[in-house]
Amino acid sequence: MTNRTFTMIKPDAFANGHTGAILDKIIKAGFKLIAMKTVHLTREKAGAFYEVHKARPFYGELVQFMSSGPIVAAILEKDNAIADFRTLIGNTDPKKADAGTIRSLFAKSIDANAIHGSDSDENAKIEGDFFFSMMERV
Ligand code: RTP
Ligand code: MG
Repeated sequence: MTNRTFTMIKPDAFANGHTGAILDKIIKAGFKLIAMKTVHLTREKAGAFYEVHKARPFYGELVQFMSSGPIVAAILEKDNAIADFRTLIGNTDPKKADAGTIRSLFAKSIDANAIHGSDSDENAKIEGDFFFSMMERV
């Protein structure tokens, strides 16, 4: 599992028509698509996905935002996937994200920040399993 990560193209980027451009950047950066689908999370499912952030002050807004429209969820594969993907997407706050990163190009705010990337091998596995069954993967 150490060469895999999990991502979501968030409702803001999806609604603004950036899905194709973001996937192009991901693939050109060397990530292989293992699984991918479009889904519209209910509040309940978004809340369950972000359970780890339940105590944080932004939890309510995060759950509201992530259930506000369709997203694309995907499992990606590349050497050093977790770290390389977080470099590709940039800082959580797009104002602090390096030029050329996905968040600097496509995100508007720390809340509507275009894309998710797993922060550890363990969470990549948990998050991928949340969205995909064994039958849905390469
Ligand atoms: P993500 O999980 O979405 O890839 O983002 P991340 O690791 O860079 O940030 P994380 O700390 O895991 O937070 C998850 C999402 O919650 C929102 N957030 N808002 N207002 C705030 O201070 C704040 N901090 C985090 C962001 O939308 C972040 O992506
Ligand atoms: Mg995170």
